[in-house]
Amino acid sequence: MMKKKTWRGTRFKKSAHPKADKFLSSIAFDKKLIEYDIKGSIAHAKMLGKCGIIKQKEAKTLVKGLNAVLSKYKKGKLRIDPEMEDAHLVVAKKLTAEVGNVSKKLHTARSRNDQVVLDVKMYCKEKIGMIIGSIKKLQKALLQFSKKSDQVIIPAYTHMQQAQCVSLAHYILAYVEMLKRDRMRIEGSFKILDEMPLGSCALSGVSLPIDRKYVAKVLGFSKVSNNSIDAVSDRDFIIEILGNLAILGMHLSRLSEDLILWSTKEFDFIEIGEAFCTGSSIMPHKKNPDVLEYVRGYTGRLYGNLNSLLVTMKALPLSYNRDMQHDKEVLFSSVEIAEDMLQVLAELCKDIKANRTKIAQALEKDPGLYSVDIVEYLVKKGKSYKDAHDITGNILKHCYKKKITKITKVTLPLNRLKAFSNVFGNDIYNITFEPKKSVNLKTSYGGTAIKNVRSQIKNWEKALKNA
Ligand code: ARG
Repeated sequence: MMKKKTWRGTRFKKSAHPKADKFLSSIAFDKKLIEYDIKGSIAHAKMLGKCGIIKQKEAKTLVKGLNAVLSKYKKGKLRIDPEMEDAHLVVAKKLTAEVGNVSKKLHTARSRNDQVVLDVKMYCKEKIGMIIGSIKKLQKALLQFSKKSDQVIIPAYTHMQQAQCVSLAHYILAYVEMLKRDRMRIEGSFKILDEMPLGSCALSGVSLPIDRKYVAKVLGFSKVSNNSIDAVSDRDFIIEILGNLAILGMHLSRLSEDLILWSTKEFDFIEIGEAFCTGSSIMPHKKNPDVLEYVRGYTGRLYGNLNSLLVTMKALPLSYNRDMQHDKEVLFSSVEIAEDMLQVLAELCKDIKANRTKIAQALEKDPGLYSVDIVEYLVKKGKSYKDAHDITGNILKHCYKKKITKITKVTLPLNRLKAFSNVFGNDIYNITFEPKKSVNLKTSYGGTAIKNVRSQIKNWEKALKNA
């Protein structure tokens, strides 16, 4: 037997088909909104009393009843009937159990259409704060790793081919910068969702003398929405968060991919803590970076969630349509995935060791790592960039032919260098052909010179100190 719905009382002669009822039910997932629904309802009840739409005494009873429901919910004592349609109706039913008939007054000047937007916005505001906090924690863990490795020089790659020497700290700080922008984007979405929708009611506003600004103030919103149709129709604020989390995921996935690659036997640049790796049921020697792979894999889900809601919304006429109930699962999913990824990565990054010997060996395979240093040396001696590029190309061709992997005064003496260009002097050996020397040449702002990297580390320490 299906239970009677609040709205079935009059218009409908038949009760809902159990299949239809189950199909439309959102309680399995929107129960995550219960706390916000209660808090929103408290603000609404107070406003109804303050504006004289219901009696002050009634408002007080409603608020007391809602607080009782909230406290039961927080203690895990609120039994949620899986047969209920959604979180809003659960709260309404529980309130009736607390205060009886007066609970019928709570829905005055409110519809589930504006109520659901309010609840989701409140959820987003809280979760955004949590995610920003977790991004900062990951930034701190990466900063710690950078501090330990500012003297470690690695070959950096373009096209997956060795390109130039950089400080490992510089490389890791690149991710700290990316995470800074992720934070900025997510903080930006906070501003977008800071418009309080309640009072838009079904779609047109109400004829009762409500005070929307008061509700906004009680709930910590800085503005009220300007257009009742817009307020109940759009889910752009969710899409924006999903987009921002997808971009965050892309960064976390690239970080994971770098760490996975660096932990292979072929690279062997780093050792990831055992606590974050798994073994194999068949190959006893394996130490697999599953946590990082799982981050990479989850990123696909973040993209999927974004795409899912974009597609759901693209052809919906205004205003509310039930299709929009699909906004919640993807939102909750992305928020929870992002939070889990950030937390596990922050711990994993505290447990990475750089394998200095192997990194040093990787730096001795290709003298091409210093090619740009040679070109820039020649430019400083008055050559055009194009000529300097050609001369250096010839030098490297010679090195590759003679299998010179490390350029020194012995393997490539000055008289040999002078055969390529007579502007070469002994000073070339002082400025490059060694990883640290090469790195320290890149003193332009934002470059990898160790002095620069140290000052970036200092800046980040300051920025993240109280974060
Ligand atoms: N559970 C619904 C949703 O998430 C709440 C709004 C229901 N409104 C309605 N008119 N059926 O979208």
